[in-house]
Amino acid sequence: IRDTPAQVGEYVANYIAKRIRNFNPTPEKKFVLGLPTGSSPIPTYKHLISLVKKGEISFKNVITFNMDEYVGLPEDHPESYHTFMFREFFSHVDIDPQNVHILNGNNPDLIGECTAYEEAIKAAGGIDLFLAGIGEDGHIAFNEPGSSLASRTRIKTLAYDTILANSRFFGGDLEKVPRMALTVGVATVLDAREIVVVVSGQRKALALSKAIEEGVNHLTTLSALQLHQHSLIVADEDATAEL
Ligand code: GLP
Repeated sequence: IRDTPAQVGEYVANYIAKRIRNFNPTPEKKFVLGLPTGSSPIPTYKHLISLVKKGEISFKNVITFNMDEYVGLPEDHPESYHTFMFREFFSHVDIDPQNVHILNGNNPDLIGECTAYEEAIKAAGGIDLFLAGIGEDGHIAFNEPGSSLASRTRIKTLAYDTILANSRFFGGDLEKVPRMALTVGVATVLDAREIVVVVSGQRKALALSKAIEEGVNHLTTLSALQLHQHSLIVADEDATAEL
């Protein structure tokens, strides 16, 4: 627990930096990092960028896989997760754009896109560290309440609560929020060697307490982390209000 979202970001960025620094890349295996969108990871991205600018870490030997993407939103739309990731992070660090993987929500073969994504993760050697945020309903990636805990990358219809929460990015207009997304599954996240979750703000307090203090269940998909041997939740004070 850290006092503020900025301190959460600093802690998590330093944590990730340490993992990347301690990893010995080979031509066959680079460090594989899973990444989220949303406002919660922004302080982490900011601090990671500053570490790269200071020459303290490099993303040259890092491969990334993003968690999710809207279906049907043009890639260059300001609110696509593709645009978000380049604006908030990738454009500011020394990553090779060829090592960046983001689901393509405009592929006419969406099922094929999801299958290929799982295969690409496997081909990269699996995810070493999956960074995640959570939704107000306790979802991880876009694994909405009711998602199977054994789910893999797939198409998901967004819950009304998520459409409502994310409408703030679309001028408050619910009609403009895409109804579907592609998302890694709960099992895809659990397959990572390590999972780190950033949680900030009182809006997330109830979801966090359900995920930690109640049993593992498919209504709060973050709770699946209870099954993982190496997972860490970094929260700010406000997010712990219900613990
Ligand atoms: C979306 C994303 C999630 C993210 C959530 C929270 O639903 N699909 O991966 O965790 O937003 O966003 P924020 O951090 O802005 O509250």
